[in-house]
Amino acid sequence: MTLRISVIGTGYLGSTLAAGLAEFGHEVFGVDVVPEVVKKLNAGQPHIFENGLEHLLEQHTRSGRLRFTLDYDDIADWADVHFLALGTPELPDGSADLSQLHATIDALAPKLTKPALVVGRSTVPVGTAPALQERLRRLAPAGDGIELAWQPEFLREGFAVGDTLRPDRLVFGVQSDHALRLLEQVYAIPLSEETPVITCDLATAELIKQAANTFLATKISFINAMAQLCQVAGGDVTVLADALGLDARIGRGHLSPGLGFGGGCFPKDIRALAVRADELGVNVLSDLIKSVEVINSAQRIELAELAIDQVGGDVAGKKVAVLGAAFKEGTDDTRDSPSLTVADYLHDRGAFVEVYDPQAHLAPRDGFTQVGSVTEAVRDADIVLHLTAWPEFRYLDPAELAPLVKSKIIIDGRLKLHAPTWRDAGWKLVQIGRAATL
Ligand code: UDX
Repeated sequence: MTLRISVIGTGYLGSTLAAGLAEFGHEVFGVDVVPEVVKKLNAGQPHIFENGLEHLLEQHTRSGRLRFTLDYDDIADWADVHFLALGTPELPDGSADLSQLHATIDALAPKLTKPALVVGRSTVPVGTAPALQERLRRLAPAGDGIELAWQPEFLREGFAVGDTLRPDRLVFGVQSDHALRLLEQVYAIPLSEETPVITCDLATAELIKQAANTFLATKISFINAMAQLCQVAGGDVTVLADALGLDARIGRGHLSPGLGFGGGCFPKDIRALAVRADELGVNVLSDLIKSVEVINSAQRIELAELAIDQVGGDVAGKKVAVLGAAFKEGTDDTRDSPSLTVADYLHDRGAFVEVYDPQAHLAPRDGFTQVGSVTEAVRDADIVLHLTAWPEFRYLDPAELAPLVKSKIIIDGRLKLHAPTWRDAGWKLVQIGRAATL
């Protein structure tokens, strides 16, 4: 059955969700407050880089099933279901900033005169949803006819379209059969493909998302701590990770060592969970999370210091080529990018840093320069740093790059380069956690 659905917020979650719901056959209105964004989306053009999104947007804006608006009057009583896909950035104390959710409810609710289901998709501290429902009901003429459900998202940047169309699980935090039935209609297509569903209360739904991100971040920090140990003890962390990953209870996912995690989700979400755990007196959890963060930050500094060692202990006046600015491959997102922390650290110590990334565009920054190709970045470099695991970096020909650089030293911060190929071409290739490469 075709539903009328609004998706409020058109960031990487909202624009992918809106396009995905249109692909499921629904009539969809996306809402944003930025006129240029709405204009672009209505022309079928994404305002972020996400694999496959342009095709979906183009297809469904053309078919008329997908539209975007600035005006809540277009959607308030039109939609059967309203999705809230708004950001919850970090406040200075590490807690989640809910102001976008509050502002949206304040704009939408006074226009809701008919019963409707509002579904939160943002990542929020446990206990947020009931307070939002109370705010909705207080402000909406439809009052108790407005119901809130919570459906956490698990989209990975770079795979957001696939994760929307073929989710590995759906979590429905609901308070009534009516809400559950509506969500089942929204997701009739993935449900017909036997996507597993977890139905639960609002608090569990809120927590599942934060727990998933924190667990994955913990896996990454665990393997990075093991990388440190391998380095001093003489082991190989990639072999260790492969062996651990073959244990079905552990799994190989998010066990890749290297520069650690960054981006717009893990860092802020785990800090927000730590703050909430402290507020609720569960300090054992916040202690665990703090250790995960300490390991993660240390990894960036470790790599930068290793680069300084490799150029002889002083990087001032040296040219450093940085391959990769995005926080991971497949995205143009540079929020809390480990690569840029390393670049900043070296620049602060006097290095001349040139960065190349296939997608990310850096705002002009003091000190280091973004260049348009690997060749430009590595020309006359005293050291090359491979910091984002873009596939194209794996296929670089070290023999072709060798005559361009001043010194054939490369640090593989993502442990993805084929060490024998680089060594055979005369390079010194260093990987943290593979002692034999040091
Ligand atoms: C993450 C979650 O995976 C997703 O479910 C959630 O909805 C949002 O947060 P995302 O931030 O897009 O998604 O990236 P992800 O692929 O999980 O990687 C996060 C960071 O961890 C990246 O910086 C990545 O380079 C790093 N990472 C990931 C590792 O260092 N090692 C790994 O094994 C995996």
